[in-house]
Amino acid sequence: MRAVTSADHERSTLAGLKQRDVVALILAAGIGKRMLSRTSKLAHHVAGRPMVRHVVEAARSAGALRTVVVVGNQADDVRQAIGNHDKSIAFAFQKDQHGTGHAVLAAERQIHGHQGIVLILNGDLPALRPETIRAFVDFHRHSGAPLSLLTAVVTNPTGYGRIIRNYAGDIARIVEEADATVEERATQEINCGIYCAEMQELYRPLRRATRNNAQGEIYLTDLVEILHKDARKVAAYRHPDAAEVLGVNNRRELAVAARALYRRKADALLTAGVSLIDPDATYIDADVHVGRDTVIEPGVMLIGSTEIGEGTHIGVGSRIADSRIGDGTMILAYSVISGSQIGRACRIGPFAHLRPETVLDEKARIGNFVETKKTRLGRGAKANHLAYLGDAEIGRGANLGAGTITCNYDGVAKHRTIVEDEVFIGSDTQLVAPVRIRRGAYVGAGSTITRDVPAYSLAISRGRQEIKKDWAKRFSARARQKDKGPRSK
Ligand code: UD1
Ligand code: CA
Repeated sequence: MRAVTSADHERSTLAGLKQRDVVALILAAGIGKRMLSRTSKLAHHVAGRPMVRHVVEAARSAGALRTVVVVGNQADDVRQAIGNHDKSIAFAFQKDQHGTGHAVLAAERQIHGHQGIVLILNGDLPALRPETIRAFVDFHRHSGAPLSLLTAVVTNPTGYGRIIRNYAGDIARIVEEADATVEERATQEINCGIYCAEMQELYRPLRRATRNNAQGEIYLTDLVEILHKDARKVAAYRHPDAAEVLGVNNRRELAVAARALYRRKADALLTAGVSLIDPDATYIDADVHVGRDTVIEPGVMLIGSTEIGEGTHIGVGSRIADSRIGDGTMILAYSVISGSQIGRACRIGPFAHLRPETVLDEKARIGNFVETKKTRLGRGAKANHLAYLGDAEIGRGANLGAGTITCNYDGVAKHRTIVEDEVFIGSDTQLVAPVRIRRGAYVGAGSTITRDVPAYSLAISRGRQEIKKDWAKRFSARARQKDKGPRSK
């Protein structure tokens, strides 16, 4: 095996893949019973994406022109996990799941007519990197073999197909765990479920595979022995980083793969000028963008298409999904933000909950125990404590006191609350929508506002306070009198 250098990577990305096209064939029809799940193994999320989508994305970024995904078990889940927005992805259906070879056979119609390389990938390889695929495909192009395998050497090969080499060191066959002898099981070189095959030499030999094995399946791995017996060479590319190419079969391996992906993202961010207080305790999805000089505390989850600006601070335990956070914004501990657009220099939390369609203009503030939904806060507006703001528009510089609540739902429909610029809302106020508080108005604490408030006026609606002088003295005197009286039972 020859060493693959980074120069090779370059060549393969720029020119190599154009020599002969690559079609990716992803096997995703299996049952994944070791997951003990109602959902297909391949649809389980790993670092924010369904497992199989990591594989689809990796194949695409490695340069595969087309991708065929074999589905079968819980096919709808898997299809949905991949999405159908992309025309370069086709699906093949494997009705009954009789093994990995059977799955490849089920996709014959979809790749019929293809002339080049078929890159076959198990669907349970979420940590596989595009760079590795590229290097492997490049290796295969130079190998002259009809089939190449990616292998790894591991200390514990349990569960994997073992690579059996002959006296000359050539690969003679792959033996599955269930079919292996004790000596064969001791082999530490394993098959990773990553193959390159020449299209013209794939299907004819594969049709010769039988179900004559412990699991009664058609094994894709039997192709190795079939080709070897025909005196054809099978090439092996030994990958040094086993963790990247081990399949996920159970929840433990799922967690390990997720950690590897989070670690990879953390490393990329550290390299790009982002501070992570504890890189091993951050959970940042692959597609998230974080600007320089941002500090991320432990326990933070950044999910989906989130974009974080420069010089922000994300406090411990915060969870931010599909949101944009502007430069210099502070998000204090344990804040939950989804589907929101936050401007620059805002201050949020601790313990804030910003639900979808929250928009904060610059310098707005949302403090502890404040919940927002479909609400915009203008520049410098504040809701610093204990509030619910739903379907609301809050003007610039408005100040919402503790306990402000928009009563946006009348049991049938949602209504809007408009609070114009520079309004002051006293604490513990209910704004019963639809309602509008015009510019510069004041609302007295404890009010229930049901009608619009004109600009620069004061609205107050609460029971008038009465004083009963010396009432407490009289009350306690009466109580003492009662105590001295005869005991009632
Ligand atoms: C397979 C390999 C084994 C290798 C291991 C690497 C075979 C026979 N064995 O074993 O040598 O070490 O992967 O992880 O190939 N699938 C289908 N249809 C089926 C069966 C499986 O699409 O009928 C899909 C699964 O969804 C999965 C992939 O093929 O994505 C691999 O199947 P799995 O059952 O995980 O194979 P292993 O037993 O792990
Ligand atoms: Ca597997």
